[in-house]
Amino acid sequence: DFRPRGAREVRQAGHAFLEMKRRIERNMEQRTTMLNGVSHDLRTILTRFKLSLVFLEQTPEVEDLKRDVDEMSRMLEGYLAFARGEGGDAGEQAVETDLRQLLEEVQSDAERQGHVTELEIVGDPMITVRPDAFRRLLFNLVGNAARHGDQIEITANHETRWLVLHVDDDGPGIPSEMREEVFKPFVRLDEARNQDEGGSGLGLAIARDVARSHGGDIVLGDSPLGGLRATVRLPA
Ligand SMILES: Nc1ncnc2c1ncn2[C@@H]1O[C@H](COP(=O)(O)OP(=O)(O)OP(=O)(O)O)[C@@H](O)[C@H]1O
Ligand SMILES: [Mg+2]
Repeated sequence: DFRPRGAREVRQAGHAFLEMKRRIERNMEQRTTMLNGVSHDLRTILTRFKLSLVFLEQTPEVEDLKRDVDEMSRMLEGYLAFARGEGGDAGEQAVETDLRQLLEEVQSDAERQGHVTELEIVGDPMITVRPDAFRRLLFNLVGNAARHGDQIEITANHETRWLVLHVDDDGPGIPSEMREEVFKPFVRLDEARNQDEGGSGLGLAIARDVARSHGGDIVLGDSPLGGLRATVRLPA
């Protein structure tokens, strides 16, 4: 309930601020409405697609279509989560979380996909994070390692008040001049290399959002395994 008063210039500035506030509010409202509409409409159609496919004869072509539809659903969820800003803050509460349990989940997921995945945790395995957001960060980083490398190593150190976590792989890595670029939404380096492997280029943007919203960050570097090393640092 701010009322502009005082000298004319001050009042004008005050009114300009109020107008700006109203515009921002309208904008956010429209964005939310649009996102809800898009997600509802597209999800409905995708569900219809999936149902129709079940009733067709299960030829290899239909199997392909099914995979594409699944891929589309996954990408859609990714875009929407990013647009809603869920990488950062979806109102989730930070709670004491067992890092070991989380990492073992990520590890067995990577192993199911056929990757040798080593895990080492030094120090206190209990950390205070928003668990769903943090899990998304881990899955994004380890998912990247799995997509680009064969061997994966996850090492966490929580001996101080900071958690330092490395995700290493033996893939091709990322040239140093591109290591900031790839954090931008929709940036992908390997468009040509493996186009069919999906991916929207949002994983690192979301992971960094999560890290920063916890008061930390993610940086990329060289891995001792020969590929990429993603390092997460968080006060935890
Ligand atoms: N471990 C890695 N090794 C080599 N290149 C990587 C690695 N991780 C990411 N990249 C490169 O950075 C790009 C951006 O990664 P990001 O996770 O943001 O998107 P994505 O993996 O392509 O798609 P999404 O994560 O949305 O499924 C990737 O397309 C790839 O070119
Ligand atoms: Mg990714």
